[in-house]
Amino acid sequence: MNEYSHVPVLRDAAVSMLSPREGGVYLDGTFGGGGYARAILEAAHCTLWAIDRDPAAIARGAQLAAAFSGRLHIVEGRISALFDLLNAAGVHALDGAVFDLGVSSYQIDDPARGFSFRNDGPLDMRMGKSGMTAAMLVNTISESELADILFAFGEEKASRRIAKTVVERRGVQKFETTADLAKVIRSVVRPDKSGIDPATRTFQALRIAVNEELDDIAAALAQAAALLTPGARLVAVSFHSLEDRIVKRFMALASGRAAGASRHDPASLVAVAAPKFRLLTGGPQMPEAEEIRRNPRARSARLRAMERLAP
Ligand SMILES: C[S@@+](CC[C@H](N)C(=O)[O-])C[C@H]1O[C@@H](n2cnc3c(N)ncnc32)[C@H](O)[C@@H]1O
Repeated sequence: MNEYSHVPVLRDAAVSMLSPREGGVYLDGTFGGGGYARAILEAAHCTLWAIDRDPAAIARGAQLAAAFSGRLHIVEGRISALFDLLNAAGVHALDGAVFDLGVSSYQIDDPARGFSFRNDGPLDMRMGKSGMTAAMLVNTISESELADILFAFGEEKASRRIAKTVVERRGVQKFETTADLAKVIRSVVRPDKSGIDPATRTFQALRIAVNEELDDIAAALAQAAALLTPGARLVAVSFHSLEDRIVKRFMALASGRAAGASRHDPASLVAVAAPKFRLLTGGPQMPEAEEIRRNPRARSARLRAMERLAP
């Protein structure tokens, strides 16, 4: 346990979009601090299955599970395995599913978890406890692989320069801490006018690579969608353009629009075979200015949702 906390982003919008009903069975694929879970359980006398890959989130959830005795079941695992995790628990259909993607403040604010370039800690970045740490990654992969990760997952224009410098430096001394890596990145990339720390994009990229986040999102959406009953809703909140693009494309395809279709270009709205869903959000729903003022982490949040059609 740690002393950090997480302020849920777009919680009320997500729960109202999910529209839980009495007796329904729901999935919260990203339990985190349980903010969404509590709101869902309070909105209707329903059952909620919650998943998180972080053992610390699972441990924190025990109190909430006790408070809603028998209605909240928390399972440790990855959302890319949700179909199997739910099946093993005897759940074969869902009346709705929600994903609040990315990392929680419990994870990012705790230097010991190794996500933060502001506070020094071990270069870890794993949401769960297994797999490669960020240190193993930056100390072992080839320069070109590293550059590709920084470019693809961080949209970092200086990816090649950073990768070259990192590989040179690790030849002399391996990376072990977040502050050390951030310092080396800042020596290569100058801050731009936005005031964003030059290490931001590299840290995002490494976090996504370490946790294989984008693959998990795509798999989770497909598996959750397959479990939804008619009228059930799939709600996803994303925090950067790479996540949002996956959600947007998946929902566009499931609702009968070609990937990348634009409402400004009717010719591109190619209908695909018998859509099983209808989109509930034309464009992404974003937080109100007041929420962003109270919680600056909400500023990049985007909510998208769709509803399963009757067969
Ligand atoms: C933004 S937080 C969710 C916060 C939560 N909605 C709340 O109100 O407290 C995201 C959580 O999802 C978990 N998570 C992210 N990706 C995951 C994945 N692929 N599989 C399982 N859990 C994941 C993280 O460990 C983190 O605890």
